[in-house]
Amino acid sequence: MARKIHTLGGYIHEYQRSILDPEAFWTQVADTFYWQKKWDKIVEWDFETPNINWFVNAKLNITENIFERFLYTKRNKPAIIWEPNDPNEPSITLTYWELYEKTCQFANALKANGVEKGDRVIIYMPMVPEAAIAMLACARIGAIHSVVFAGFSATSLADRINDCSAKMVLTSDGNFRGSKTIPVKKVVDEALENSSSIEKVIVLERTLTPVTMKPGRDIWWHEAIDGISSDNVAETMDSEDMLFILYTSGSTGKPKGVVHTCGGYMIYTYYTFKNVFQYSDDDIYWCTADIGWITGHSYIVYGPLLDGATTLMFEGIPTHPHPGRFWEIVDKYKVNQFYTAPTAIRALEAYGIDPVLPYKLDSLKVLGTVGEPINEEAWHWYHDHIGKGKCPIVDTWWQTETGSILISPLAGITPTKPAYATLPLPGVQPIIVDNDGKELKGNSVEGNLCIKFPWPSMLRTLYGDHDRCRQTYFSSFKGLYFTGDGVKRDEDGYYRILGRVDDVINVSGHRMGTAEVENAINEHPKVIESAVVGYPHPIKGQGIYAFAICDMSDRSEANLKNEIRVTVTNIIGPIAKPDLIQIVPGLPKTRSGKIMRRILRKIASGDSDNFGDTSTLLDPDVVDKIIADTDSAS
Ligand code: WT7
Repeated sequence: MARKIHTLGGYIHEYQRSILDPEAFWTQVADTFYWQKKWDKIVEWDFETPNINWFVNAKLNITENIFERFLYTKRNKPAIIWEPNDPNEPSITLTYWELYEKTCQFANALKANGVEKGDRVIIYMPMVPEAAIAMLACARIGAIHSVVFAGFSATSLADRINDCSAKMVLTSDGNFRGSKTIPVKKVVDEALENSSSIEKVIVLERTLTPVTMKPGRDIWWHEAIDGISSDNVAETMDSEDMLFILYTSGSTGKPKGVVHTCGGYMIYTYYTFKNVFQYSDDDIYWCTADIGWITGHSYIVYGPLLDGATTLMFEGIPTHPHPGRFWEIVDKYKVNQFYTAPTAIRALEAYGIDPVLPYKLDSLKVLGTVGEPINEEAWHWYHDHIGKGKCPIVDTWWQTETGSILISPLAGITPTKPAYATLPLPGVQPIIVDNDGKELKGNSVEGNLCIKFPWPSMLRTLYGDHDRCRQTYFSSFKGLYFTGDGVKRDEDGYYRILGRVDDVINVSGHRMGTAEVENAINEHPKVIESAVVGYPHPIKGQGIYAFAICDMSDRSEANLKNEIRVTVTNIIGPIAKPDLIQIVPGLPKTRSGKIMRRILRKIASGDSDNFGDTSTLLDPDVVDKIIADTDSAS
């Protein structure tokens, strides 16, 4: 198929072309797609406003490029293979034709229930084929989906529903996760007590967990599609119409609704999927992410399906019913490309190699990693024990905002180095700047990672708050998109991501804003003030360390810490629960009242010297008091 790079020379050539003549480069990639109307111009942009338009005035529907485009060539090819949480339950395979029919049928059901082009639909579902069908059905009719990870609390769900005034929620009676069953419909009911825009809730029967169905509002999925036709003509979308909103944490309290649009997202998820993973037509590809995150959007659903690939979807968790489950699944389906997160690798590495030994893993050709910097030890374990030394590892750097992978090796083509994301993909122009915005040219430099030219799948705005988009990403360094990551470009010009330089913690590959966690902790009536920082955690990459000033008059320390954790779980979800809490008499603050997180970060990582200049602190003694008591953190 068009535009697949096969050699290092080919990569260098394509990269050069993409920089020297972006118009010609992108025309060639986009020409292989089905457009109802072609573009007037490839790209129009300014990073000040910001205003970014790709494939200007083109018309398309992304699902026509997954289904109608492949109807003759891929009709009977498996599109989705689904492996359930319980290995004894039968798996499901949907061919491109079957997925097409189900998508169209559900698209018609959405319409019959009042969803129109431009409406927002929340998807709060387990990892089942219907979740992908739901996304595609929205895209089919031009509704904007916003998938919310089903581990988020009712409060978080309500915040997201309200932020985008969603009209409908798609959910299930419950979710299977390992040995647990989570009553998600109940969470939706609770969320809807605090939101008024939702008109209908469609509920998939999955766990047979008893639920209350509210008459006039709640409908069963199977009833919603009963008797509904699967004839559907795809809605005509402008290239810059919204495809989806995905909420992500930022350095201030409120989550940000990252907006992706149709044309550019389609082109670049496809292009990056094809080239990074070097997918060939008969391969079975598996990404272990959840569809609640951008990885699930771009590399379980859209990227692979736009390439006509077979994408495996797994409902469960890596350790259920045993810590060899991933490898069992790899052998069961003869998976060729396997894409996971460093935190999963480290968690499985902790069980030793016994759980790996029963499996052949000889189908594997490519291994991928994403979400956080991978430490060299985990990289080697993955390379040696899973890839048996013969599979290239693609360490893919990207973000919710970038939509697709931006810096990564091409599997088997770009020589890799452990812990390096290596080189930018065609179309991506990274630039490293110091804190004053001065470009650091040449090799062997370290600084802030920015991008100086638009790429097709970049965010366009934050839903309902364009100015926050400008401020967050386009104002730190004039004329540049700022990623929030620190980076090193080594002597060979290879990029190594060093982690966030803002107040964002990366817990198990999931982004948590410190302010968001602090706000949740502060909701506990006995908490007076708190400060949250990340610290090195052997499995999660970073753990959450909370320093809290509390009223201890009528609680034991252990009870209070438990209650704080429950509060955070209720407000955000279990992923935001602090790993360590230390009750402190005060926090290091500047005279203007700003918490010096830099100092707390050092203390949390066990480093208690060299705090730099502490003379601006209001009460320098508080630092010694906190250090003297770090053993009490639990
Ligand atoms: C942040 C984005 C991209 C999907 C998953 C996370 C970190 C991501 C890597 C990598 C080092 C990485 C960055 C980035 N990150 N991939 N390969 N090496 N760090 O998406 O929640 O939007 O988080 O994850 O810090 O900014 P996200």
